[in-house]
Amino acid sequence: TGTRVGIVGAGPAGLMLSHLLARAGVDNIVLDRRSHEEISHTHRAGILEQPSVDMLTQTGVDGRIGELGDEHEGIDLRFGGESHLLHFPELVGATVTLYAQNEVFVDLAAARARDGGDVRFETEVTEVLDVDSDRPGVRFRSLADGADPDEVHELRCDLLIGADGSRSVVRRALADGGSQDLSHEYPFAWFGILAEAPKSSPELIYARHERGFALISQRSETVQRMYFQCDPGEKPEDWSDDRIWSELQARVSGPDGFELKTGPIFDRTVLPFRSFVRQPMSRGSVFLAGDAAHTVPPTGAKGLNLAFADVRVLADAILAWADTGTREKLDGYQDTALRRVWKAQNFSFWMTSMLHTRADATAFENRRILGELESVTGSRFGMQHLAEQYTGWPNS
Ligand code: DHB
Repeated sequence: TGTRVGIVGAGPAGLMLSHLLARAGVDNIVLDRRSHEEISHTHRAGILEQPSVDMLTQTGVDGRIGELGDEHEGIDLRFGGESHLLHFPELVGATVTLYAQNEVFVDLAAARARDGGDVRFETEVTEVLDVDSDRPGVRFRSLADGADPDEVHELRCDLLIGADGSRSVVRRALADGGSQDLSHEYPFAWFGILAEAPKSSPELIYARHERGFALISQRSETVQRMYFQCDPGEKPEDWSDDRIWSELQARVSGPDGFELKTGPIFDRTVLPFRSFVRQPMSRGSVFLAGDAAHTVPPTGAKGLNLAFADVRVLADAILAWADTGTREKLDGYQDTALRRVWKAQNFSFWMTSMLHTRADATAFENRRILGELESVTGSRFGMQHLAEQYTGWPNS
């Protein structure tokens, strides 16, 4: 099989790229090892910057985001038992939209199906071929029921895109003496839950407490998403509903008497994370986008937004190449993308470090961080600095 652009990975990055290319008449095929069912149940963050929303609504993927997406005007930074509201429209003239990443996937997959896109789920890439040639490709096999898993197929393309997530197969094939993997590990993870309960607060709460970080997020009027910092070795099954609720409540308690609204917990997962960047993000005619090239810790929800920003730049470069045959923009892709990547890396690292606690922290360090939080919430410039980064930088 052959196509102009081969895309490995049918998450939001791969599908959005496929969608934008198809709209401009550029042939492409998307392969993903996972089933549609599996991806649609992969719970990730839920905050979209306005440019990410626009990419969906202005290109005909407006299925349900208008109805189910929830515009948020700010966040509540809570520390020392007190809430500090950052109001984004007033600070930086922007808002964000709460819409879960798995819903973005469902909408994009539906748009590709509607438009006759060639998206093959349960299709595993076993090998990446001829990275340094002008006709790279992949070998793949179908894992679908009834397919013969020993039957290996080949896909050849002019450009190959690795949008296959943090454990990217394409990234592995690109590594050479000139590539660098830069990373930072954190000694904690998140315990994430979904619960049947009403909203506890109009805005998301990012809380720092001596017991650790907690995030009170939402999914709808009746389903809530919450997280708390935990040990990476924590076992979800060791935590009863009561134990989870009392841990979350302890971390948001304060003299104002704030109380979480509780209910049955129907999903619980321990989510490890790290900061990671592969440089360069391309080699020859092979390009990485989204988590395949870089991952951020979840605090501040930059992952999907960063993936969409990559895709914006990459789609534009591919369309210029398809139109005129010039590779200038393709060659500039990674410099443009990496400028935003490192700003997002900094922001996600900063939010994570400022809001989590460490067992090895000195009394000095714990007290210093409260000074840092006060210098954010105590000044308009401080709040603007956080708000600008949270709502997203202008396109570069
Ligand atoms: C969510 C996750 C985040 O990491 C974040 O910063 C905000 C919201 C969420 O899942 O709703």
